[in-house]
Amino acid sequence: MPEPSPFVLLRDVSNVYVSRSYGALGKKTGKPVLDHINMEIRKGEIFGLVGESGCGKTTLARAILGLIDYEGEIIIDGLRQDRRRRREMARKVQVVFQDPASSLNPVKTIGSILEEPLRIQGVKNPGERARRVEEILSLVGLDSAYKKRKPSELSGGQRQRICIGCALMLDPKLIIADEAVSSLDVSVGAQILNLFQDLHQRLGLSLLFISHNLNIVYYLCDRIAVMYRGQIVELGAARDIYTQAAHPYTQALLAAVPELPGENSAPPPSGSVFADFPARGALDAVFPSGPDAHDACRYARFCPRRKECDGEGSGTLVNIAQTGNEAHYVRCALTGP
Ligand SMILES: Nc1ncnc2c1ncn2[C@@H]1O[C@H](COP(=O)(O)OP(=O)(O)OP(=O)(O)O)[C@@H](O)[C@H]1O
Ligand SMILES: [Mg+2]
Repeated sequence: MPEPSPFVLLRDVSNVYVSRSYGALGKKTGKPVLDHINMEIRKGEIFGLVGESGCGKTTLARAILGLIDYEGEIIIDGLRQDRRRRREMARKVQVVFQDPASSLNPVKTIGSILEEPLRIQGVKNPGERARRVEEILSLVGLDSAYKKRKPSELSGGQRQRICIGCALMLDPKLIIADEAVSSLDVSVGAQILNLFQDLHQRLGLSLLFISHNLNIVYYLCDRIAVMYRGQIVELGAARDIYTQAAHPYTQALLAAVPELPGENSAPPPSGSVFADFPARGALDAVFPSGPDAHDACRYARFCPRRKECDGEGSGTLVNIAQTGNEAHYVRCALTGP
């Protein structure tokens, strides 16, 4: 069976945020975040990215969008991502962020906001822009009358629909949804998830879905990557990650999810999709921050199985899937093929 073709390919992607303490005259300091990320997002798939706060999920999204400098290589639809190619890449990859209120210009009308990406891309014909606005409003489930309103006259869910509409204006092939339903209440969030699923099916879109909520990711995604402190520690089919998690960190994350589905269970029903992740305090107790016991494994200090392991050999992702199955990669010295 041929491998499904990748739409986005990341090879050894690493980054360091450089900042200066005490303003422009201060000493330069670097904060490494992404550490040799290797993964692909296939054409037409929904790919989930999970991991605790601060592990680098948004940074990874920003690298794919060409918004930050990085080392390594990102190939999008056969072309190398480069900050100088941002305009060209914007036609292929778009993003929807968590907070729809701050993403929309409050003084402009929805019609004008939606037209903006077309104007930037040089679509000069007003009739053509207006037609596309009508098309997109209907695609995101809103009446054409909404184009005359301002963002403040919309509900949170409707505003997020407009953000999704803006992302769709240039007919991208991939949308990155970065915590796109986290700020919405349960029922509205579920409607937006359904909209993503619907768009995925109708337009053949690929989606990179970033979330704290493992139930949502399992419900929505084909494959999932689990990130820990800038590294991917496990990657595989959503069902394999859920039912056969091999990395102790993934296991700990799953143990913290209230309703873990059993081996043969269907995806969680929509009511429990939003069963929330534990409060931050609870997670902090499980994953306190601090120096690593050794460099090879970043999780070593907190790993419940650390006594069985010296951490050697945990520096690479190893495929533990049986031949013929979807690859299941794990970065752990205790897990072998
Ligand atoms: N512009 C920046 N300059 C310096 N450090 C940054 C910058 N942006 C993010 N960071 C740091 O990089 C790390 C990763 O941040 P990032 O936003 O990618 O995390 P995240 O996984 O998306 O977290 P969350 O789930 O809370 O959104 C954090 O420690 C953050 O403080
Ligand atoms: Mg983030």
